[in-house]
Amino acid sequence: MDSEMLNSSVQDFWIGMVLTIRAFRPDDIRDVCRIEEESFRDPWPCYMFTYLHMKNPESIKVAVIDGRLVGYVVVDVETRRGKKVGHILNLAVEQGFRRMGIGRALMEEAISYVRRSGADEVWLEVRDSNIAARKFYSSMGFVEKGRIHRYYRDEDAIIMYKEIE
Ligand SMILES: CC(C)(COP(=O)(O)OP(=O)(O)OC[C@H]1O[C@@H](n2cnc3c(N)ncnc32)[C@H](O)[C@@H]1OP(=O)(O)O)[C@@H](O)C(=O)NCCC(=O)NCCS
Repeated sequence: MDSEMLNSSVQDFWIGMVLTIRAFRPDDIRDVCRIEEESFRDPWPCYMFTYLHMKNPESIKVAVIDGRLVGYVVVDVETRRGKKVGHILNLAVEQGFRRMGIGRALMEEAISYVRRSGADEVWLEVRDSNIAARKFYSSMGFVEKGRIHRYYRDEDAIIMYKEIE
């Protein structure tokens, strides 16, 4: 078994469909950027994904259904006040594939990576107006811990947090 298989998870999805969560590869960039651009009004530039992947090849996980890349999560493990913590930097699922459990599967993989890295908490920022994402993160056990004024160019961020075992 090669290292990519060891680092990927495969699960039965819907009838006849298989969802795979695996590490990002450089040739995924077009699909990731396509989803990024359709998902956000201020999308990351493509080079951001390439840069983060070069810095840490484990930092981006992608979701693939029957060969189609349908989502991704970007995660970092940082040291804050001498303590390792996970930080979700980005997450998106292609519009036509939402509410099927793909976001949850990506986050579970990201949280598993954070845990393996020796951290026991995960933080993220989400736009105040992004009610769908706030509900999604709440459904995954994240709680709201505060607000950062004008974290985004035009809006506050809500800080969310989750302890992991
Ligand atoms: C947020 C996002 C990644 C969720 O992905 P997803 O694959 O649709 O989420 P899941 O299907 O795994 O949802 C899991 C649970 O989250 C909650 N949830 C997800 N989307 C929701 C919505 N639009 N409204 C209310 N609750 C929602 C539900 O409890 C859902 O379970 P259910 O479908 O059984 O009710 C997706 O909506 C997305 O890509 N949004 C645009 C990009 C974005 O905002 N990213 C977050 C930036 S901080």
